[in-house]
Amino acid sequence: MVFYFSGTGNSRFVARNIARVLGQELADITEYTKKQERPVFCETGVYVFVCPSYMSAPARSMTDFIEWAGFPSGIKAYFIVTCAASMGITPRVASELCTKKGFEYMGAAQIEMPQNYIALFNTKQVEENIDIIEKAEIEIERISGLIKEGKMIETKKIGAVEYSVTKWVRDVYYKDFMKTAKFRATDKCISCRKCVNICPLSNISMKDDRPVWGRNCTHCMACINQCPADAIEYGKGTAGKPRYKGPDSTLGAKRPS
Ligand SMILES: Cc1cc2nc3c(=O)[nH]c(=O)nc-3n(C[C@H](O)[C@H](O)[C@H](O)COP(=O)(O)O)c2cc1C
Ligand code: SF4
Ligand code: SF4
Repeated sequence: MVFYFSGTGNSRFVARNIARVLGQELADITEYTKKQERPVFCETGVYVFVCPSYMSAPARSMTDFIEWAGFPSGIKAYFIVTCAASMGITPRVASELCTKKGFEYMGAAQIEMPQNYIALFNTKQVEENIDIIEKAEIEIERISGLIKEGKMIETKKIGAVEYSVTKWVRDVYYKDFMKTAKFRATDKCISCRKCVNICPLSNISMKDDRPVWGRNCTHCMACINQCPADAIEYGKGTAGKPRYKGPDSTLGAKRPS
């Protein structure tokens, strides 16, 4: 099975393509987490976990899901992390998780995709993002081929210092900075409810025809990037910044369906 967590579609795009090459079932982990019913999977064989890199490690939504769900012991587990630059300490986080769950660790790979973290950074121009996605498509085929052949994917060693410093920064960031107080909807809001429906953590509701953010946010950037009216801002830094609409819509600019 190929499991994915995705805010703005990059990891979904990668997971969908891996599942296509492998001829395997594709599963969005939020289908399980939203129901809050602990799933127990029985199939033995190969499992692929795809998610974004958040603060130099796999998104916690994915690692928490793996810890929570039931899997048969001894499954072969591959970790594919989409990132703007680096998957950071993913190989060590993933291999430790495998040991804990009794999985066979088959390696971790990064796929570079467009930047979506517009609360802190800028996404690139559409043409540059198309280039990034086209390069990613080649890497997706290569990695899928290795998985299909049952090979281990190359993985890098993470030193103790890099690991502990990154983990510490990540813990602080999750606790103190992944907050929603800075999100707001402007007068451009057309009350379409898209933000409510796409939030993977069901953290947005509507009040007086405007979105209201709860506390359960992982800063996935789906709401702010995918609002059709570009009506969501985060603090003072996002006004006028281009939004990242995801790989399907970015490629759609070049490959009209
Ligand atoms: C909260 C957050 C943290 C991020 N941290 C990193 C990072 O540490 N390194 C990196 O290369 N990209 C980072 N990114 C960029 C995303 O990993 C990248 O754009 C990813 O492909 C988004 O995947 P998605 O569309 O499936 O949500 C971060 C993005 C967000 C929203
Ligand atoms: S997606 Fe945008 S326009 Fe639609 S309700 Fe949310 S903020 Fe308003
Ligand atoms: S509220 Fe948080 S988790 Fe939900 S879509 Fe927005 S950034 Fe993502």
